[in-house]
Amino acid sequence: MSANTATAGILAETNNAKREEVLEMLAKAYWMEVETVMSYIANSVNPDGVRAQEIIESLEQDVSEELGHAKQFANRIKELYGVVPGSMRFTAEQTYLQPPEHQTDIVHVIKGVIQAETGAIEHYNRIIETTDGLDWVTQDMVIAILRDEERHRRLFEGYLREYEAEGARSAPAA
Ligand SMILES: [Fe+2]
Ligand SMILES: [Fe+2]
Repeated sequence: MSANTATAGILAETNNAKREEVLEMLAKAYWMEVETVMSYIANSVNPDGVRAQEIIESLEQDVSEELGHAKQFANRIKELYGVVPGSMRFTAEQTYLQPPEHQTDIVHVIKGVIQAETGAIEHYNRIIETTDGLDWVTQDMVIAILRDEERHRRLFEGYLREYEAEGARSAPAA
């Protein structure tokens, strides 16, 4: 092994297979963030009605945060000697965040956001476990991102609670 080669951690030659595994997980995380940016842009513009304003403002803010996450994942891919994938490799998965039939259907949007955040939380927990004791930098980065996603989900769970409490009383006619 040459003097220029890392002998410890994720960049050590002996950990090449593990590094490939982490790169694959990072690419998936990158696509999840990119798709979330698309979905949150649409869902921060489409909703109609007075009750939608809080959700619109919240999602507008999240668009920037999720874009920031996508950039962090992209940079980490490069640092681990991977290549950020091109758009032709993208496959959409967020069936639950498509525009609802009626643009006043805010509950549909809230539930979709909770599902997206839950998916991210699950995948990021897997990355944190996979990198444990091996790739502290990726682990540290993903822990910070995980906190953002947990905060996003908690916020939208609160919105859902409020909507469910108000129930049919003030729900717009479908
Ligand atoms: Fe994110
Ligand atoms: Fe999020």
